[in-house]
Amino acid sequence: MKTSPAAFEKSKTSRLEAPRAVLFDAYGTLFDVYSVGLLAEQLFPGHGPALSVLWRDKQIEYTRLVTTSNHGAHYQPFWELTRAALVYAIKRTVVPAQAAGASGLFATQVERLMNQYRHLSAFPENKDVLRALKAKSIPTGILSNGDPAMLKLAVKSAGLDGLLDHVISVDPIRKYKTHPDAYALGEQATGLRANQIAFVSSNSWDALAATWYGYQTLWVNRYQLPFEELGTQPTRSGSSLRDVLDFFN
Ligand code: LAC
Repeated sequence: MKTSPAAFEKSKTSRLEAPRAVLFDAYGTLFDVYSVGLLAEQLFPGHGPALSVLWRDKQIEYTRLVTTSNHGAHYQPFWELTRAALVYAIKRTVVPAQAAGASGLFATQVERLMNQYRHLSAFPENKDVLRALKAKSIPTGILSNGDPAMLKLAVKSAGLDGLLDHVISVDPIRKYKTHPDAYALGEQATGLRANQIAFVSSNSWDALAATWYGYQTLWVNRYQLPFEELGTQPTRSGSSLRDVLDFFN
């Protein structure tokens, strides 16, 4: 008898052992990065959406650039790369459309946007999901490119203090995801193997690379985007953080 694709996916995932810990990506997954778009639009009317998307893309591009070039000699903490990416995005999207000579103003705007980035909002379902995992005695944590100071403040601002067992930053190893040493930090912190851990990310490249590394993965596809076209699928896909609870049904 022919198995339907849905039944095949279910039988494939049900063969996996239920995860013994859950690790979350931070920016875009627990914390809403595109919320800075509102402020970007206020500061640069007509450019908010383009600026915030380019800011994010450039930030991730810089993490790859410094990780893969010249044996890591150009590493900078995520906060610095985030600021550099913002300046680039402003120059690329805003400056050509505005009179030159306003560059002094941009320092203030950069600081306001960076401050907003420091205090991102959390997605609304986060707390319930983290509490539900706690009730099941599943250890949870963040595994992020963010540096320790950024993550500490983001967790506090989002009201997630006390709901996470681990806050793991790649900063001590000076290599960003998707380097395998970055994903290995999750195993080291939990004392588990990657296939015993669920890794949750809204970033499709992160969900892909974590799957390649060996994690069970959930891609949280909040914006109905296509997944990466590189021949590997995440273990599961969903549309909100709540879908992580399906690993435990
Ligand atoms: C992070 C970025 C990739 O938190 O979202 O690691």
